[in-house]
Amino acid sequence: MTMLSVQDLHVSYGAIKAVKGISFDIDEGEVVTLIGANGAGKSTTLNTVAGLIKPDSGSIKFNGEELVGIRPHKIVERGLALCPEGRRVFTHMTVSENLDMGGYTRTDAENNETLEVVYEHFPRLKERTNQMAGTLSGGEQQMLAMGRALMSRPKLLMLDEPSMGLAPILVDEIFEIIQALNKSGTTIFLVEQNANMALKVAARGYVLETGKIVKTGTGAGLLVDDDVRKAYLGG
Ligand SMILES: Nc1ncnc2c1ncn2[C@@H]1O[C@H](COP(=O)(O)OP(=O)(O)OP(=O)(O)O)[C@@H](O)[C@H]1O
Ligand SMILES: [Mg+2]
Repeated sequence: MTMLSVQDLHVSYGAIKAVKGISFDIDEGEVVTLIGANGAGKSTTLNTVAGLIKPDSGSIKFNGEELVGIRPHKIVERGLALCPEGRRVFTHMTVSENLDMGGYTRTDAENNETLEVVYEHFPRLKERTNQMAGTLSGGEQQMLAMGRALMSRPKLLMLDEPSMGLAPILVDEIFEIIQALNKSGTTIFLVEQNANMALKVAARGYVLETGKIVKTGTGAGLLVDDDVRKAYLGG
């Protein structure tokens, strides 16, 4: 079953065309990755799906319903959550206050339940419920940003470069958690510059180059693709 279907999406910032007519889809239950270099248009794509940027044209259907023109909080209510690039945690709020913010579309009873699930995936956050988010390590802030997105109980979780700036051991940990979240039923759209890790966990991937999708295939297939190896995997 197709969960997200993007057709001929164009997005620009003034005169700069950042996304130039891309189409892709994500099936329920999949991990799908979008890889590409700096400035390829990955974040623009995610932010547009999340309703934060209005596209010039194109269609974004989520479970058959058009998302273009719908406000971001309504998109969250429909079951789509974004964990943004650079974490963007609320630094002057505690861990638990940050998580509360993620659950603003849900009832208190629902949030109490979801909080338990989030703490199961991220025991480190549970040990730090009253710590100011700004004093967390980079890896812990990433976990918090993911936990905050999960509080809305998304059907589709979009992650924008979750491994950015993290030590290799933490990168491994974050990718294990991504796989665990997927196993427990969350469909995942993963944007990464770390193509090697992303293609290892993804069922399918798309390669974005200066606003256009230039290649698509299975994660395993793209990992051994000559062009992909040369451009994104160091040869
Ligand atoms: N707010 C903005 N105003 C003007 N141009 C922008 C804006 N945000 C992004 N761009 C431009 O759009 C293009 C795509 O940027 P985007 O952030 O989507 O790339 P990205 O693939 O996420 O890159 P990175 O890997 O560095 O995060 C770039 O050329 C960028 O300079
Ligand atoms: Mg980006």
